[in-house]
Amino acid sequence: MAVSLDVNGKTVSVEAGEDTPLLWVLRDEIGLTGTKFGCGIAQCGACTVHLNGQPVRSCSLPVSAAVGQKITTIEGLGGNHPAQQAWAKLDVPQCGYCQSGQIMSAAALLAENSAPSDEDIDAAMSGNICRCGTYQRIRAAIKEAAGIAKALPAAG
Ligand code: FES
Ligand code: FES
Repeated sequence: MAVSLDVNGKTVSVEAGEDTPLLWVLRDEIGLTGTKFGCGIAQCGACTVHLNGQPVRSCSLPVSAAVGQKITTIEGLGGNHPAQQAWAKLDVPQCGYCQSGQIMSAAALLAENSAPSDEDIDAAMSGNICRCGTYQRIRAAIKEAAGIAKALPAAG
């Protein structure tokens, strides 16, 4: 069926079965390959994108559930998001495979909580697995990003 999606602020039309996972559509139909396939069963977080600002597992979300919602992928953060700046500054990634999902979860956390505690970070990030064990750097980068975000001039 023809599906119209709002991805990173643009309307995109694709042909997809309504049960097709959003991740497949993003990567294979739209070409947004920054979002990764890990487990495919909503257990690792590699495929995390935002739906109306909330982190979701795109491997397990049927594309039909994303119609009419605002979808944001790692590409939609634009490269200069405070989390992306902090990730680069602290050299967080090792192999990198999990990191776009990590950054998307961190960005959603920071949008709701401008000064997250260790407990807040653990709660928000617990569904994002890193086989390389970069958890300490991720925690430090989220705190760094919170500082960067505070230093930015107010929007608008
Ligand atoms: S690939 Fe979606 S949670 Fe692992
Ligand atoms: S950086 Fe390798 S899995 Fe996280």
